[in-house]
Amino acid sequence: MNLKLNLVSLVPILCASRLDRLNGISSPTATPVSKRQTTSFPVFNFTQPLDHFTDTGFTWSQRYFVNSRHYKPGGPVIVLDGGETSVTDRLPFLDTGIVDILANATNGLGVILEHRYYGAFLVTDRYRICSWLNNEQAAADSANFMTNVKFAGITADLTAPRTPWIYYGGSYAGARSAHMKVLYPDIVFGSIASSGVTEAAISNWGYYDIIRRAAPANCSAQFITAVKEVDDLLSNPETNSKVKSFFGMPGLTSDADLTSFFAGPLGGWQSKNWDPAVNSNSFSNNCAAMGSPNNATIDTFQGIVVSNATWNLATIVNRTSSRCPKTSTSDECFGTSNATDFQQTDLSQTWRLWQFQVCTQWAYFDSPPPDPSIPSMLSKFVDVDYSSKICKQAYPPGEFFQVPPMPNVEDVNKLGGFNIAHDRLAIIDGEVDPWRFDCPHIREDTPLRPFKLIPNAVHHYDENGLADHSQEPPEIQAIHQQEVEFVKGWLADFK
Ligand SMILES: *[C@@H]1O[C@H](CO)[C@@H](O)[C@H](O)[C@H]1NC(C)=O
Ligand SMILES: *[C@@H]1O[C@H](CO)[C@@H](O)[C@H](O)[C@H]1NC(C)=O
Ligand SMILES: *[C@@H]1O[C@H](CO)[C@@H](O)[C@H](O)[C@H]1NC(C)=O
Ligand SMILES: *[C@@H]1O[C@H](CO)[C@@H](O)[C@H](O)[C@H]1NC(C)=O
Ligand SMILES: *[C@@H]1O[C@H](CO)[C@@H](O)[C@H](O)[C@H]1NC(C)=O
Ligand SMILES: *[C@@H]1O[C@H](CO)[C@@H](O)[C@H](O)[C@H]1NC(C)=O
Ligand SMILES: *[C@@H]1O[C@H](CO)[C@@H](O)[C@H](O)[C@H]1NC(C)=O
Repeated sequence: MNLKLNLVSLVPILCASRLDRLNGISSPTATPVSKRQTTSFPVFNFTQPLDHFTDTGFTWSQRYFVNSRHYKPGGPVIVLDGGETSVTDRLPFLDTGIVDILANATNGLGVILEHRYYGAFLVTDRYRICSWLNNEQAAADSANFMTNVKFAGITADLTAPRTPWIYYGGSYAGARSAHMKVLYPDIVFGSIASSGVTEAAISNWGYYDIIRRAAPANCSAQFITAVKEVDDLLSNPETNSKVKSFFGMPGLTSDADLTSFFAGPLGGWQSKNWDPAVNSNSFSNNCAAMGSPNNATIDTFQGIVVSNATWNLATIVNRTSSRCPKTSTSDECFGTSNATDFQQTDLSQTWRLWQFQVCTQWAYFDSPPPDPSIPSMLSKFVDVDYSSKICKQAYPPGEFFQVPPMPNVEDVNKLGGFNIAHDRLAIIDGEVDPWRFDCPHIREDTPLRPFKLIPNAVHHYDENGLADHSQEPPEIQAIHQQEVEFVKGWLADFK
């Protein structure tokens, strides 16, 4: 689904006519966590070259926030990678989440660091072409920051490797955290990769398969029934146009433009959180709306007979399709074949940034299971060709840069992929995180190479924390405690 643009921030919108697409997933990133304790932290700039490998003469200002409330001379620096969103979305993690927890436990200085092209870069810098938005440049930014930053008000030299730095990231930033330990082992003393998507995949079919297996059985069964039934009705020329009308999209040209909407109700799985203040109920609400399996069939006004599952799915999708103005065609409202819709490049088009990373290096395209015997939560029409066509539409070949025909996932996977490992690299995963399909494999858990699976957890559940940690669920208190213990153990070995 098209609006899944931002791995996780789900906000982005392609153009006015597509504003109403259901929210999907697609960015492994974190849903911004709302502020709780809300103290203000000072913000600073660090000057970075636009290109670390070839001198362009251009620089940009990298934004970072500092929490010094626990710092004592001799303490480490705990840095959280902002990933693919504004670093201000990460302030709660600096205040009451993992950064504050680790800083408190180690007398450390807490820092959250913005990623090039996101947040302030976007509004203050003029480099709208994405040529310098890639893994290599972004990793070099962090290494340059760690080895050269001078913190205001602190006289000691806190640069790496003189001072130990602990690098933390969740989701895409989690992969970056693992990559930093592999790429810069002498600069990064220790890394924590939480839900780190270290294996880039062209087909991300396992994302929905994990949801299928983890969701309540009746809910999965209802989605599977409806998706299969609609795929069959669309495949039959007699019923193709009728089922589109039944979903409120009469005359729609592309079958996938209808069925891509079915991923929307599933996207809420990723937005679940143990913290009620940031949790989304949308997945369970959609499950409730899908009802329980039964054998009832319904004769529709359009002259097709559908199961109750399909009827209920149409009721959900109709909330969106009914918003198409009467004066517009279904293709205008819901179609994705007009490339012009994807070619606006003004600064409000923030979806273009993560999408560019997807199209060049990360992929994660929606697609059904490769083995047709696996029940699918996703329509067969929403395949890699469909999910990746935005790459050609949004980024036509330019004078200086051409998006590759398919993303160069090897750029990511050569750093270790599922098997990425290093001393003082910790892997934290959520048991039912759909992104686990792209996260490091289960391995032995040792103090030097911790591997922790948070029970019943979805996406980087350890990243946030409450002002009163005793109010957190036991499994969250436990993972925080384990992280404190292994980080303290690592630091005890620092020379
Ligand atoms: C950081 O850099 C931006 C862009 O150059 C500038 O607008 C802002 O005032 C700077 N902030 C600080 C605290 O220096
Ligand atoms: C900081 O750590 C101490 C124990 O070292 C603990 O008692 C206290 O609750 C922690 N504070 C926060 C805000 O985490
Ligand atoms: C969805 O909307 C279409 C168009 O208004 C309507 O014909 C159809 O009956 C609706 N389906 C359901 C299940 O409400
Ligand atoms: C279809 O499912 C809905 C939602 O669970 C339920 O209210 C309705 O009674 C069902 N209709 C039939 C005909 O089974
Ligand atoms: C699942 O659906 C069946 C009917 O098919 C129903 O008997 C059962 O109670 C449902 N289970 C749950 C957990 O809702
Ligand atoms: C649907 O009908 C089949 C065959 O008659 C039966 O085996 C099955 O239990 C029924 N399912 C439900 C949910 O009623
Ligand atoms: C594509 O969209 C543009 C701008 O939204 C519009 O001007 C143009 O007519 C559309 N083309 C087609 C073939 O619909």
